[in-house]
Amino acid sequence: MTIEHSLTLQLADETQTVALGRQLAALISAPLTIYLTGELGAGKTTFSRGLIQALGHQGAVKSPTYTLVEPYELEGIEVYHFDLYRLSDPEELEFMGIRDYFNERSLCIIEWPEQGMGCLPAADIHLHIKYANTGREISLQADSDKGKVLLRKITSNGKD
Ligand SMILES: Nc1ncnc2c1ncn2[C@@H]1O[C@H](COP(=O)(O)OP(=O)(O)OP(=O)(O)O)[C@@H](O)[C@H]1O
Ligand SMILES: [Mg+2]
Repeated sequence: MTIEHSLTLQLADETQTVALGRQLAALISAPLTIYLTGELGAGKTTFSRGLIQALGHQGAVKSPTYTLVEPYELEGIEVYHFDLYRLSDPEELEFMGIRDYFNERSLCIIEWPEQGMGCLPAADIHLHIKYANTGREISLQADSDKGKVLLRKITSNGKD
């Protein structure tokens, strides 16, 4: 049996981006690290909003562009939403105690992980969002065994 390591989906509009985040929320468990890449305005924060709100956060999910990380203490899970766009040097992550965010109880969602390369733990799953006409195309790539299991769940969920 072949285990697929990647999956590509079309997201016609913002609602579908949010819905994919909601779908993932039902399938994940801590610890988990998600990398989110794609150009400015691709939909990384939109996806994160769907995920974080479906995990139980009531209220807005704003991109932590200036603070670098926004914590959410939710029922049964600690969520850390990073936006590293404005990080000038990956070593700054060491000063902010980056390792403490990655623990057995946490989900780390990282926008612009490229900015922190060398100082960030590896991802379990990497989501890349591209502009496609008026919508978006998202590719999901598993980078760990846990990521592969998650990807398989997403695939079978979509067929239900
Ligand atoms: N599938 C989609 N089709 C069309 N538009 C979408 C889709 N998903 C999200 N959008 C729109 O694209 C924009 C995405 O903004 P968002 O802040 O999520 O991007 P981002 O990738 O986080 O950008 P940044 O790199 O600046 O953090 C929003 O205006 C949202 O409404
Ligand atoms: Mg963003």
